[in-house]
Amino acid sequence: MDVHERIPRAEYEAAAAWLRERIPFSPRIGLVLGSGLAPFANAVEASITLAFTDIPGFPAVTVEGHPGRVIVGQLEGHPIMVLQGRAHFYEGYSVQRTTFPIRVMQLLGVRILILTNAAGGLNPEFRPGDVMILRDHIGLFGMAGINPLRGPNEMDWGPRFPDLSQAYDPALRALACKVAQAEGIPAHEGVYVMLGGPSFETPAEVRFLRLIGADAVGMSTVPEVIVARHGGMRVLALSGISNTLNPDAIEPPSHEEVLRVGQVLVPRLLAIVRGVLRSLRGEISSSQNQ
Ligand code: HPA
Repeated sequence: MDVHERIPRAEYEAAAAWLRERIPFSPRIGLVLGSGLAPFANAVEASITLAFTDIPGFPAVTVEGHPGRVIVGQLEGHPIMVLQGRAHFYEGYSVQRTTFPIRVMQLLGVRILILTNAAGGLNPEFRPGDVMILRDHIGLFGMAGINPLRGPNEMDWGPRFPDLSQAYDPALRALACKVAQAEGIPAHEGVYVMLGGPSFETPAEVRFLRLIGADAVGMSTVPEVIVARHGGMRVLALSGISNTLNPDAIEPPSHEEVLRVGQVLVPRLLAIVRGVLRSLRGEISSSQNQ
């Protein structure tokens, strides 16, 4: 599979039509659950669960800790569509295929996208189990040309040159910070850098990433943010810091550690997301119509 592919609009529309037939309302909130965060979905009420592998065009997920299910239901009174797991570029998908579900959310009417991920802490003040509220990102990967918007632009999706100067919605960030503080959750605002993975960083790469101003590093999220902003959604993104990276100490990160710390992070992230959604009640329509 090439790093890019051109997916015709009809393919996204087929997936949206398939989902519309099976879900009784139009979701307004989208939520993506990162590595080790799948149990978060248990909080969704009156839910319907669908496997990625049954939905036309959805990428199958191959990584442990990512079940690859769509859960649609209610959270804090909002109709929500949850991706329980995501497909990553390193699994061999094109960057367009990894963001396929985000475009489908756009077609279904999602207005606010909340992304979560597991990330390695670069900022020396971060501890495993902390939450980072993304203030900005460095799309190292995208800066090298791997961008889900590469190719002819379709104006129906969004503009040719989307603005990313405020990619992470300032009002949602402020709400998330307020909730974290009120709940006593260790949280920091910071800059996320995305690498292609799946190998973890060398000590020299960790030094480089610190130097360029990154606070946490991961292997996802940025392409989803680009597609969501292109489609006019408001974005909030939260990293669960699963491990810390110190270039001068040899403490290799592991996927098992990422999944283990996820257990501490789930209730913290859930509390933040619930608090944000509670504050948004009434602000966005919770239409029962398609
Ligand atoms: N590096 C990259 N991605 C990650 C890490 C890490 O240390 N931890 C969780 N995702």
